[in-house]
Amino acid sequence: MTKQEKITIALMLITLLVGAGLFIGWYKFFREEPQPEWVNQDPDTRFKYGSLGAEWDAGIPYWIFMVLPRMFPEKLPGPGGYASLGVPWEQGQELPVGFTKKVIGFPRVANNCAVCHTASYRKGVNENPTFVTAAPAHTTNVEGFFRFYIDCAKDPRFNGENVLWEILNATELSWFDKLAYKYLLIPVTKKRLIERERQFAWIYRSDFPEWGRGRDDAMNLTKYFMIETPMDDTFGPTDMPSIWNLKKYDPEPSQLNWAGDSHDAYSVIVDSALGLLGTQRGPKHKAEFLAQMDWLTDYLRNKPAPGFPFPIDPAKAAQGKAVFDRDCARCHASDRTGRPLPLAEIGTNRDRIDTWGKDYAVAANQVVKRMGIERKGLVEAPLVGYVAQYLDGIWLRAPYLHNGSVPSLQDLLEPPAKRPAVFYRGYDVYDPVKVGFIYSGPEAEKYGTRYDVSERAGGNAGHDFGTSLPPAEKAVLIEYLKTL
Ligand code: HEC
Ligand code: HEC
Repeated sequence: MTKQEKITIALMLITLLVGAGLFIGWYKFFREEPQPEWVNQDPDTRFKYGSLGAEWDAGIPYWIFMVLPRMFPEKLPGPGGYASLGVPWEQGQELPVGFTKKVIGFPRVANNCAVCHTASYRKGVNENPTFVTAAPAHTTNVEGFFRFYIDCAKDPRFNGENVLWEILNATELSWFDKLAYKYLLIPVTKKRLIERERQFAWIYRSDFPEWGRGRDDAMNLTKYFMIETPMDDTFGPTDMPSIWNLKKYDPEPSQLNWAGDSHDAYSVIVDSALGLLGTQRGPKHKAEFLAQMDWLTDYLRNKPAPGFPFPIDPAKAAQGKAVFDRDCARCHASDRTGRPLPLAEIGTNRDRIDTWGKDYAVAANQVVKRMGIERKGLVEAPLVGYVAQYLDGIWLRAPYLHNGSVPSLQDLLEPPAKRPAVFYRGYDVYDPVKVGFIYSGPEAEKYGTRYDVSERAGGNAGHDFGTSLPPAEKAVLIEYLKTL
């Protein structure tokens, strides 16, 4: 062999080795596998477990996700692992509703809409839970999740050696995967989670009360993550809304979100999904992402509100309709419905309104535009008050009002001073008489989070419509509301 030939062969070998290295690197860390077929077997399952692509930037390696509760149980609100955070969890599923699993090189876990928009309720203590997609996740403790991840990452025990040891108690890993977890995935996950701490600073403020189950501070999340504004002093956690039957918002000019922040369902859906992706770069695969947005829009436009699962007295409900038409329809079934009404007219707590405004809307719209995504977007105008709600499926939307400050329909028809001042949110057993979830007593206290209306952004004043009706009229009105 000539010297020239030797060099050529050496170069070829090096190229091959580098190529193989790159291939292995890609294969082990970035090769996407489709989710298993069962995920797309029907639309509800797809909504609950289908990936939106959030595993790329917001995903946590599956095995790390699985062992964290075992390693750091003291950082959870109670025993039972992730279940203590109230996530709806279907029997036989390895992950809770709203948690997606996808292999991108290695299995990763991320979230989709269902973590906040699927309800689980029981008709009685001895009944099995029913899961309703597009309903408010009234049991989920979102703030608890955010804090759990960050608190774990900050703990010195979160290191390659300890976490790997815990993983190897749960599964077998190849020689290569052990090294990958120990020296790459675990340290990188730790670093990524700690990096988020700055944006989450406001959820650690001692002068802000806990959101509690079934609520999140949505517009502050948007501010600190999407447009990265510096932390301000506003605080306005809201009740998770139902998102079924979105075609009700078709009549122009409807506005969505509690304070009418956004122009149409498509815009809210896209913005929510971008929030879940957790990156300012936008979706990794844009065409696929937009197709998923079209699917979600179609699904949520046409998903019907669920019927009341207990008997209804039709004669009383008919009488109740007359009361409703007289006292409620002018806002809840008219051309005012689906639009924000001046706050002075309703008188509910204003903190949520102060968390958002025109300048933020302009900035957020620019971020989305830079990603090359077209949508009508957020309303670039000052907020005036809260949207007069459509009341479809209202029975499953307890607690009531934008901040979830009134636990049942019966209580909403009491004057504010007589509504419960302290109650527990997030227990899943339903009370068909009061129309809402059971909110007091030992079980509610055990599973729920305490809500005190005197705390910041928690006020239950206002919306005193119907509160001075005679008891018989209130009773038939409630019977009618069950039919919606
Ligand atoms: C972390 C919890 C969370 C996640 C995840 C989430 N949402 Fe929401 N969503 C909320 C909350 C809270 C509101 C109410 C915000 C407000 O107005 O203050 C809301 C509002 C909405 C609304 C407006 C409803 C109305 O009638 O005004 C729609 C539509 C919606 N979300 C769809 C989605 C979709 C689709 C996804 C997934 C791509 C998603 N959301 C993900 C918590 C969440
Ligand atoms: C002047 C307009 C107006 C009238 C009249 C009115 N409402 Fe409302 N209603 C609103 C607005 C606005 C909201 C949202 C307020 C908030 O969340 O802070 C609301 C919220 C509600 C909610 C809570 C929705 C949810 O998802 O939590 C219920 C239930 C409700 N109204 C029932 C009624 C009933 C029953 C009547 C008649 C006795 C009635 N309203 C009369 C404007 C009105």
